[in-house]
Amino acid sequence: MIQDNKWWKDATVYQIWPASYKDSNGDGVGDIPGIISTLDYIKNLGVDVIWLSPMYDSPQEDMGYDISDYTKVYPKYGTMEEMDQLIKECHARGLKLVLDLVINHTSDQHKWFQESRSSKTNPKRDWYIWKKPRYDADGNRKPPTNWISYFSGSTWEYDEKTDEYYLHMFAVGQPDLNWENEETRKAIYQDALKYWYEKGVDGFRIDTAGMYSKRSYEDAPIVFPDSEWQPCKEFHQNGPRIHEFHKEMVEQVTGHYDVMTVGEVGHGSREENLKYVSAKEKEMNMIFLFDLVELGSDPRDRFAYNGYKLSELKKAIENQSVFLEGTDGWSTTFSENHDQPRSVTRFGNDSDEWRVKSGKLIAMMIASLTGTLYLYQGQEIGMTNVPKDWDISEYKDINSINYYAELVKKYGDDKKKIAEFMKTLNLVARDNARSPVQWDASAHAGFTTGTPWTRVNDNYPKINAASQVNDPTSNYSFWVDMLKVRKSNKESLIYGKLEVVDFENEEVFSYFKESDDGKYKSYVVLNFTDKSIPFKSLASGKTELLISNQPDLVEDTLSPYEGRVYKVQV
Ligand code: GLC
Ligand code: CA
Repeated sequence: MIQDNKWWKDATVYQIWPASYKDSNGDGVGDIPGIISTLDYIKNLGVDVIWLSPMYDSPQEDMGYDISDYTKVYPKYGTMEEMDQLIKECHARGLKLVLDLVINHTSDQHKWFQESRSSKTNPKRDWYIWKKPRYDADGNRKPPTNWISYFSGSTWEYDEKTDEYYLHMFAVGQPDLNWENEETRKAIYQDALKYWYEKGVDGFRIDTAGMYSKRSYEDAPIVFPDSEWQPCKEFHQNGPRIHEFHKEMVEQVTGHYDVMTVGEVGHGSREENLKYVSAKEKEMNMIFLFDLVELGSDPRDRFAYNGYKLSELKKAIENQSVFLEGTDGWSTTFSENHDQPRSVTRFGNDSDEWRVKSGKLIAMMIASLTGTLYLYQGQEIGMTNVPKDWDISEYKDINSINYYAELVKKYGDDKKKIAEFMKTLNLVARDNARSPVQWDASAHAGFTTGTPWTRVNDNYPKINAASQVNDPTSNYSFWVDMLKVRKSNKESLIYGKLEVVDFENEEVFSYFKESDDGKYKSYVVLNFTDKSIPFKSLASGKTELLISNQPDLVEDTLSPYEGRVYKVQV
C-alpha cells in the first residue's frame, strides 16, 4: 500500500469550520480573509491539507450544510475572489484545499427546490422526494412513514400548496435530493463538483456519503415505544444504488482530476465499508467511521449516553483500523470534527491539572494509527468542551436546540430530567466543537474585534494559540513533534498493521504497529488514568523511545496520562 505513493495517504488534514475560525472584519463571524491570515500558522504545524467546511451560500439553518447555491460563497464568509485567493494562497504554501460536498440535500432556499415545490407538474418536481399524505382511521393527515429525523421530529414536511410531503433526513430546511433522477445527478455533478474542481480545489469531504440511495418508503420498526418517530437507518444507509452513484460520480467527474475524497460513512459492515474505499472499486479514497467518536452513545441517539470502558475504546479503534488490513483500501484516523465534542474532555481529562498532558496522550494515540490523519481546528492547542454551567441559550446548534425542545415537550418542568440532560448535552453536543478558536488572551480570544456570534469558551486566557506556538511544552509544540515522528516512521505509524496487546486492561492501552515493510515495529503505550502504574515493556529487540509526554520518564512506571511511542527493531 505504501508503494503506490498517493499524496493523500501520508497527509495530515486540518479541518476549518469557517463561522468559528477567525473573523477579519469585526462582524463576529469567521471568514475567508481570516483563514488566509492564518495559513502560515497551519503550515507551521506540519499540516498538508485543509478541509474547509461549507462556505457556500446558505440560510444557515444547519450552519452551511444547507446549501442554497453551490456556485456562490456565503456573503458573510467573503467573495468568490477571496475564495480564489484562498486556493492560490494555499497552493503557494504547498497546502492542498479540500471542500465539503453536501449533495444528499440542498437548502429549501435552493432554486431547484423552489421550482420543485411550485407545482406537481414542474419539471423539477421529481428532483426531490415528494409523497402523498396518509390518513389515520379518524381522518387525520399523517406523514408517509414514521421515520425520525436526525434533528428530531418527522423526516417529512407537509407542503400545503401541493398537498404532499417532502423528505428531509435532517432539518426541515434540508430537503433530500432525488438521486434516482439522472438529470438531478448531472446537475449536482456540474454545480457542486465540476465547478470547484475547475477552480483548482484538491478534493472533497463527502457529507453523508452513504445516504443518497433510499431503499424503500415504509414504516420503520418501533424501537422507541413512547415516540411517534422511529430510527430508520436501514431505509437510507448504504442503499441499493449507493455504490453505483459513487462510481458514476468518479467516472463522470472526480476521476478526471488529481484529487482526494473522503466520505462520511459512519457505520457499516466490513464488507460494505470496503466497497467504498477499495482502490479497485473506484468510489472514494477513504471514509470516516464513527466507532471511536460515538463511543458510549446509542448509535440511534447521540444524547442517549451511557459512558464507556477503556476496553471498548480499544475495540472501537480496532474496528476502524482492521477492516482494511490486507486489502487495497485506505482509511482515516481522527478524534474530533465539527459534529463532535472536544476529545480532551471526551477521552482525556480536561481539569487544569491534566488537560495538557492528556491532550498529548490523545495526540499520540490518533497520530500513531493507520490512515490519513485529521485534526480539527483548536485541537492542536487542546481546546476543551464549553463549561458545564452554561445555559441552554448558549447552545446554537439546531441538533441541540430541537432535542431540548422535544424534551421540554415530553417532560415539561421536570427540573431533574432537564438537569440530567444538560450534563449529557454538555458532554456530547456539537456546540463544543463550534465555540470560537482561541487565538490569544485578548478580548474574545482574539477571534473577533466585534461580538462573537457564539460564546467564546471562558478558558481562553489559559488555552490559546499565541501562548503555545513558542512554548516547547505546549500542546501545539507536541503536535508539531508528533507529526514529525509520524512522518519519519510512516511505514509503521501511517501504514502499519495494528496489534492491540492488552484488551482486558482498563487502565492502559498498548499496541504494536508493524511496519509495512516488516523491518520494525512501533510500540505505543498509553496510560488513560490519573494514577501511576507499574510498567513492563512487552517489546523484544532493540528499543528506542521516539516521543513521550512525560519529560523525565521513569522506565518502569507510567505516570498519570503518560504516553510513549517506541521504535522496536525486529
Ligand atoms: C453531516 C455533517 C453535519 C450535518 C449533516 C447534514 O453529518 O457533518 O454537520 O449537520 O451532515 O448535512
Ligand atoms: Ca467576519
